[in-house]
Amino acid sequence: MSHTLESPVARITIPVLQQWKQEGRRIVMTTAYDAVAARIADPIVDILLVGDGVGNVCLGFENTLPVSIAMMNHHLEAVARTKPRALLIADMPFLSFHLSVEETVRNAGGFLQRGAAAVKFEGGGGNRIDMVRALVECEIPVMGHLGLTPQSINVMGGFKVQGRRADEALRLLDDAHRLQEAGCFALVLEGIPTELAARATDSLTIPTIGIGAGPGCSGQVLVFHDVLGLTEGHRPKFVRPYVDGFQLLHGALSQWAADVRSGAFPGPQESYRLPDGLREAIANWAAPSNPA
Ligand code: KIV
Repeated sequence: MSHTLESPVARITIPVLQQWKQEGRRIVMTTAYDAVAARIADPIVDILLVGDGVGNVCLGFENTLPVSIAMMNHHLEAVARTKPRALLIADMPFLSFHLSVEETVRNAGGFLQRGAAAVKFEGGGGNRIDMVRALVECEIPVMGHLGLTPQSINVMGGFKVQGRRADEALRLLDDAHRLQEAGCFALVLEGIPTELAARATDSLTIPTIGIGAGPGCSGQVLVFHDVLGLTEGHRPKFVRPYVDGFQLLHGALSQWAADVRSGAFPGPQESYRLPDGLREAIANWAAPSNPA
């Protein structure tokens, strides 16, 4: 198996990811909530997720529950305008896939009309299987999401590792297979023990993408801002920042502010000049005297 730094395929599609699962080639996924992040990440990763994590990462909410379809559409449209080569997936926010099949299909279909290639939604119980079947029936590819599902924060009593009890672990394995049977093309496994994620991955034919689920998944996802050290406050154990982006950007912005205050910015290279003939006219101009 050769390991390349950049994704080796011109355009990533669902069949490509399924082929990689069979070949044991690991899949790289990150989030993009705007066009800047999409342009940085797209040449490097295989999947771009417009996640509902935009709520806490960018919009100042405490969790993802207040994120609406309108907010998701806004961020998805910004990312889709960059025409990424990575597979573009949009997250179904809280209450957008719970109430009826019709509403779920309309919301998910709206994401595809805005440029997503697939949707992701959390959970395997309740009516989720019916929803997956209905979406797949409408040619809307679905990525499932099991384990620590942030929209279930109130049920879980916080962001806690899931699947540490036998009943939870076995239910997760059952749910993973039910989602696969219903037509999901991949699953995110979040916040579960390594051995459980590896068991799920080995027993499924579809790829699994882990976040806090150990190295045995078919691929990994981290939030863009977490990889780049741009998030402040509590950092979950599974996050590895590759640069202290917050300090780096803080330093650069402080330098610019200091240059403005000292007069060192802008310099001649950041300024425009008048054509030669006009300089004299400007110099000889006199302010109109105020009428009495
Ligand atoms: O919304 C999000 O950020 C996610 C994670 C899996 C990255 O769903």
